[in-house]
Amino acid sequence: MIDILDRVQGAALQAKITTAEEAAKLINPGDHVGISGFTPSGYPKAVPLALAKRMETEPFQIDLWTGASVGDEADGALTRVNGIRRRFPYQTNNDTRKALNSQKIRYIDMHLSQMAQQIRYGFFGDTDVAIIEAVCIREDGGIVPSTSVGNSPTFVSQAKKVIVEVNVSQPMSLVGMHDIYEPQDPPYREPFPIKAAGDRIGTDYIPCDPAKIVAIVPCDVPDTTRPLAPIDDDAKAMSQHLINFFLEEVKAGRLPENLLPLQSGVGSVANAVVSGLAEGPFTNLSIFTEVIQDGMLDLIDAGKVTDCSGTALSPSPDGLKRFYDNIEKYSKHILLRPQEISNNPGLARRLGVITMNTAIEFDIFGNVNSTHIMGSKMMNGIGGSGDFTRNGYISIFCTNSVAKGGDISSIVPFVSHIDHTEHDVQVFCTEQGIADVRGLAPIERAYKIIENCAHPDYKQELLNYLERAIEKTNGAHTPILLDEALSWHKRFTETGSMKKQG
Ligand code: COA
Repeated sequence: MIDILDRVQGAALQAKITTAEEAAKLINPGDHVGISGFTPSGYPKAVPLALAKRMETEPFQIDLWTGASVGDEADGALTRVNGIRRRFPYQTNNDTRKALNSQKIRYIDMHLSQMAQQIRYGFFGDTDVAIIEAVCIREDGGIVPSTSVGNSPTFVSQAKKVIVEVNVSQPMSLVGMHDIYEPQDPPYREPFPIKAAGDRIGTDYIPCDPAKIVAIVPCDVPDTTRPLAPIDDDAKAMSQHLINFFLEEVKAGRLPENLLPLQSGVGSVANAVVSGLAEGPFTNLSIFTEVIQDGMLDLIDAGKVTDCSGTALSPSPDGLKRFYDNIEKYSKHILLRPQEISNNPGLARRLGVITMNTAIEFDIFGNVNSTHIMGSKMMNGIGGSGDFTRNGYISIFCTNSVAKGGDISSIVPFVSHIDHTEHDVQVFCTEQGIADVRGLAPIERAYKIIENCAHPDYKQELLNYLERAIEKTNGAHTPILLDEALSWHKRFTETGSMKKQG
C-alpha cells in the first residue's frame, strides 16, 4: 500500500493532509475554480466529487476553468447538480454538452494557447481556487503534476488558495517528464528558447508558495480516459493519402526526409492517421503536439520518434495501460509542457509544425467547421486546432467524406459554422483522396476539393451547385448562392438526409 506521506514532503505540508469533504468546504459560491486536467487526464477526482455532493444539499454554482476536457468526476458530476455557471475552454462530457446546448451552462470555446495568459491579464476576474492533481509535492511547495499539465502552472500562480490532490494511482516514474515554464506577460515577455521539439526550458515541477496550499487530499482513482474507435479502412486510406503526400513533398525538396515536427488533433480519425505513420517509411520523426494519443505510442514503439512534446497524455484505456507498463521507455521520449507552450503559435511557426486536425465538415472553398453540428449544437470545442492550424508549415484537415451512414456529406457548399477559414488550411483529406490547394484561387480550390475529397454520392450535386454559383454571380471571386448555401443542412434537418430526394 502506498503511503501518502511518502509523496508529501515536509511536516508543514503533511499537516495539511485532509479529506476531500473538508477541502470542498474551502470553495465558496461563485468562486472561479481552475482545475488541472486535459483530455481527460490528470484531473482531480475526489474534491470535485465531494463538491458536487455538497452542492446536492447546498445548491450553488462556480465557474469551472480547466486545461481542456476533464473526466466525469468533475464535469459530469458538477453538471448534474447544476453546479457550473460558466465553463471554459473545452469539454467532451455528454452531460455538460447537453447543459451547454440548453443554456444551463455558459460555455466559452477558446483557443487553448490563449487561456493562461488571459487569466493572468485578468480578463475573467480573480482565480479564487486551484485544484491540481499531483504525483507528489516537494517540501518547497513545488507540485509535480500527473498525466497532464494544461493550465495548471497559471492556476497555481494566480490562485488565492491551492488544493492539491495527491493521486497515489499515478506512478512516481512520471517525475521528470514535465517541463514547466510560465512566461512573463507583455511588455516583459522573452522569446521561448525552444528550437526543437525536445528542448527543455523549465522545471520539472510547478513552483508554488507552500503558504497558498490550503489542503492536500489523497486520492487513488485512476484517470478515466476515453476509448478510441477501432482503426477502419477509411482511416487507413486517409493515412495512406497523407503518407503519399509527405513522400511527394520530400521528393520535391519541400520537406526533409524525417519531415518536420508533427501535430495531430484529438479523436479517432486523428489517432488512426498517426498510427498509420508507424507503418510508413519515415524515421527520426519529432512530435510537437497537444495530446499524446495511442498513435504516438505506436510511433514510439516502432522506433520512429526521437522527441514527443505535448501537454497531456490522452490515450485510450488500453493505451494508458500500455503507457504505465512501459513508462521507462516512453519517458525517454515524452515531455509534458503547459498548454501555452505546447500550443504556442509562435513556436508552431518557428518549428514549422505539420498540423493534422479533424473536421466535422469543410466546404468547397476550404472553410472548416470543427465544433458545431448543423451550425448550432456544440460538439466539443475548437481546442488547440486553431493554435496550430493558422501557424503551421502545412496545415491539413481530415474527415470521412460522409457521416451518419452516408446521410450527411462532410463536404458542403458552405460550412454551417466557421472555425478555420479558407486562409488557414492548405490540404484537405478524406478517404476518397487528398486536395492540396496551395496556390489555388477559390474556384480552383472548389473544383479540386470536390473532385478529390467528396463522396461519389454527393460529387455531382456539388459540381452542379458550383457551376450554377459561378454562372449566377458572373464568375465572382468566391461564388456563393446565399439562398442555397446552407440548403444541404436544411435538407438534413428536415428529411434526415442531405441526399436530394427524387
Ligand atoms: N455533420 C454532422 N455530424 C457529424 C459530421 C458532419 N459532417 N461529421 C461527424 N459528425 C458527428 C459524428 O456522427 C459523431 O457523432 P456521434 O458522437 O453522435 O456519433 C461526432 O460528430 C464525432 O465524429 P467522429 O467521426 O467520431 O469524429 P472524431 O472522434 O474523430 O472527432 C471532432 C471529430 C471534430 C469532433 C474532434 O476532432 C474535435 O472535437 N475536434 C475539435 C478539437 C480539436 O481539433 N482539437 C485538436 C487540438 S490539437
